[in-house]
Amino acid sequence: MKPPHSLLGIRQLTTPQIEAILKLARRMDPKRPPQLLRGKRVVLLFYESSTRTRTSFEFAAKALGATTTLITAASSSIEKGESLIDTGWTITSLEADAIVIRHPNSGAPYLLARHVPVPVVNAGDGMHQHPSQALLDALTIANHKTRLKGLRVVIVGDVYHSRVARSNAELLSRFGAEIVFCGPPNFVPGVSATIAPGVVATHDLNAALQGADVVMSLRVQKERLAGKHHSVEDYIADYQITPQRMKLAKPDAILMHPGPLIRGMELTSEVADGPQACILEQVRNGVKVRMAIMATVLGAAR
Ligand code: NCD
Repeated sequence: MKPPHSLLGIRQLTTPQIEAILKLARRMDPKRPPQLLRGKRVVLLFYESSTRTRTSFEFAAKALGATTTLITAASSSIEKGESLIDTGWTITSLEADAIVIRHPNSGAPYLLARHVPVPVVNAGDGMHQHPSQALLDALTIANHKTRLKGLRVVIVGDVYHSRVARSNAELLSRFGAEIVFCGPPNFVPGVSATIAPGVVATHDLNAALQGADVVMSLRVQKERLAGKHHSVEDYIADYQITPQRMKLAKPDAILMHPGPLIRGMELTSEVADGPQACILEQVRNGVKVRMAIMATVLGAAR
């Protein structure tokens, strides 16, 4: 099997490539890492804020022996108006071996990958894709459930604006999971249509949660609710994940959240810190998955 040159989105990966990354991630030990990337230079090009994604890509690359440099929009020539492609050419002229990019515009990593000779890893582009998050979420689910096939995964919150929801739905439905998008109409439009094979949508959270194996809560920004059909109070009343609502799911259901989480908004602290929550496990798995991703695109996976 040929490993991917870049990691842009879930659709660009074959099923064997996804399986290979997850298998490699399971073997990665961030405390005793193999020096697969010794001498490699990885640029972290972040046009958008990030805590866990940026830190875990940095730890992952460094753990494998690479050096990393962070470029953020605010303190670089990006602020002076340099284009993405010119920044990419500058970075590769400095002999970087790979670029990890987060960008507010959907498609930006794809554009960059067409113009630079080195692997490009998408760390989140606009509302579009967040493939490393979907891979770490799949690893987390697989650690708790025997198989992905047939699992009921309910993704609750601002699905419309969420690259996490899109990437997860694509990856998990590929492996036979049933995906239910749930939220108010402005967050989950078009409930009548089947979005993709294995993906359905509803506005009824209580119905969605019945028999759920995985409940994935997404961040909800107050600004996105302003002036729309739902007020903050309505959102909390209808969609907040609470201990009572978790009882509708299967007794062994797990609760996930990609972070950053807003306590008291999309979920209560009781649930976020409760026994079903896997939120910090997701963060830990992020380092292992990103080690596997970097080793894969840099041709060092073995
Ligand atoms: C998410 C993101 O930035 O896409 N966070 C993450 O990377 N773990 C989700 C969000 O910002 O709500």
